[in-house]
Amino acid sequence: MPAMTTDLMIDARNIHKSFGGLKVLQGVDLQVGRSEVVAIIGSSGSGKSTLLRCLNNLETIDAGSLAIEGAYLCQNNAQGKSQYVTERQIKAICARMGMVFQQFNLFPHMTVLQNVIEAPLTVKKVKRETIEPVAQALLAKVGLESKQNYYPSQLSGGQKQRVAIARALAMQPQIMLFDEPTSALDPELTGEVLKTMQQLAEDKMTMVVVTHEMGFAREVADRVLFMDKGVIVESAEARRFFESPQHDRTRAFLSSMLK
Ligand SMILES: Nc1ncnc2c1ncn2[C@@H]1O[C@H](COP(=O)(O)OP(=O)(O)OP(=O)(O)O)[C@@H](O)[C@H]1O
Ligand SMILES: [Mg+2]
Repeated sequence: MPAMTTDLMIDARNIHKSFGGLKVLQGVDLQVGRSEVVAIIGSSGSGKSTLLRCLNNLETIDAGSLAIEGAYLCQNNAQGKSQYVTERQIKAICARMGMVFQQFNLFPHMTVLQNVIEAPLTVKKVKRETIEPVAQALLAKVGLESKQNYYPSQLSGGQKQRVAIARALAMQPQIMLFDEPTSALDPELTGEVLKTMQQLAEDKMTMVVVTHEMGFAREVADRVLFMDKGVIVESAEARRFFESPQHDRTRAFLSSMLK
């Protein structure tokens, strides 16, 4: 694959995705620039998780095109159906993205350190002596250097989620996708995770964050998107999004969030 020089990190065009007869994404466009932080908000079932999952190939799309840092994952063929590149190319492209889920998904039988080094060891074949100090530095960065020998069951939800972030970062992604990373946490634990994400944004990571945290969307995101029924209804610079939403559906959603 040729090296690409583009600052367009994610370029999704007119993507469509159905599950059986249910149209979940109905012509979504998403462009994300290098170091940009985009927050996606919207009601339950609007297709937010599906969109993120399509971006890193946890789901395939039916129609439209997806490019990551200039490399196409898929493009429409003559019949208007998405045609994917080879499995090998897909793997290489998706390795540029890390994802953090609502439910942490840590390996319960592995220590914190083992969780963080597992994918670099097995997927990237990095040597243990090379990755261990990197993992320890990442754990320090998320404030968990003293927990490296703990098991996930011995951690709080917020700590688990910070391990999940360190684990994703250990693969050295160019882009981080977050799917409601704080929704499973008690309110007093969301702050530490959001702070870690804010630091990541300050380090110029490109981020797409599905969230219900309006404070985070307003303060940390550059741009906010509102999704409803499989389409992006509104997309605006964060401050403008909250100060003067243009669409009735956005206004209705924002007022429902404030209740
Ligand atoms: N694997 C699947 N098979 C069938 N239907 C699915 C699948 N994944 C999602 N859906 C459906 O697609 C729709 C959109 O789901 P999605 O998870 O993308 O919504 P969401 O915006 O993330 O919602 P939430 O805020 O509740 O997480 C829902 O109606 C859901 O039931
Ligand atoms: Mg979801």
